[in-house]
Amino acid sequence: MDLTHRPRRLRRDGLRDLVSETQLQASDLIAPMFVDATTDEREPIESMPGHERVPVSEAIPRVEEIQATGVESVILFGIPGSKDSRGTRAWAEDGVVQRALRRITDETDVFAITDVCLCEYTDHGHCGVLDDGARERWEGAQTDGGVATNEREASLTVDNDETLELLGKIAESHAAAGAEMVAPSSATDGMVGAIRETLDETGHTDVPIMSYAAKYESAFYGPFRDAADGAPAFGDRRHYQMDPANADEALREVDLDVEQGADVLMVKPALPYLDVVQRVGERTDQPVAAYNVSGEYAMLQAAAEKGWLDIDAVAHESLLSIKRAGADLILTYFAEDVAESL
Ligand code: PBG
Repeated sequence: MDLTHRPRRLRRDGLRDLVSETQLQASDLIAPMFVDATTDEREPIESMPGHERVPVSEAIPRVEEIQATGVESVILFGIPGSKDSRGTRAWAEDGVVQRALRRITDETDVFAITDVCLCEYTDHGHCGVLDDGARERWEGAQTDGGVATNEREASLTVDNDETLELLGKIAESHAAAGAEMVAPSSATDGMVGAIRETLDETGHTDVPIMSYAAKYESAFYGPFRDAADGAPAFGDRRHYQMDPANADEALREVDLDVEQGADVLMVKPALPYLDVVQRVGERTDQPVAAYNVSGEYAMLQAAAEKGWLDIDAVAHESLLSIKRAGADLILTYFAEDVAESL
């Protein structure tokens, strides 16, 4: 054969690594962890094998396990002891995330990020304050079992602007408890600006914001909603989270968050949205994060349990692909396993 170009020449061991375009490092990874005020013991999360909800008393051991794998950053999610319509436990000084954070930042040097949202804290499970119509429908549904008749009206739930103030309070309370970065995920218009303003006014000018800028209304969050008990009790999130059909819109979201002072821009989920990760990376010169979400983790674990996939190989390949698409940091439930294998 008279072949001038033989790409295989570069694929041989020894040379392969020299020409490798993408490197995955433990320092790229952020491990999610769940702190739970409703339990005294570690509780396995069924749909996310290998993950647990831990009480505050286990927060340090959990962080130490994560750090032992080489992962140096965590993002904290809280399951509060009680919920109400405004999610007040989300900004309580003695809230579950705040208590865990104080311990973690006192006793470890892990980089502690917090998710800033209301869905785990509201009794209705939405990521903000209900608007008047939704509140009436929700209260009515609880007393007489009635449901809204007009579906289009029923799809509107959260009052955007009333939610902003609460997000500021949550971010401030996290920063006061030691959060080193806050990550608002409520898909509220103006959330980055509102949080930046509150943090600056309260002396937390050095706490960066990692915005869930392009956050899709995705069915891949299912296992997380079981884990964090944050599924909406009625309706869905279609009027605040993004339509999976759209990518140009993600760029508009990113531009708005940059204008409002976001430090890191996140795309979520990751694998089904790698085109968006790539476009966001091309759009901004700020760091881009991608969230390899619970459903992406659960489906690979389920296939591996059946013996259909090699979990270590597909986890590594998944994260490598997310990086190749342009993510600088990756939030992933595979963080520990992959970091250990690097
Ligand atoms: C909102 C939040 C969610 C996730 C991260 N932050 C749930 C949602 O938007 O419904 C999902 C993460 C995952 O699926 O792993 N607090």
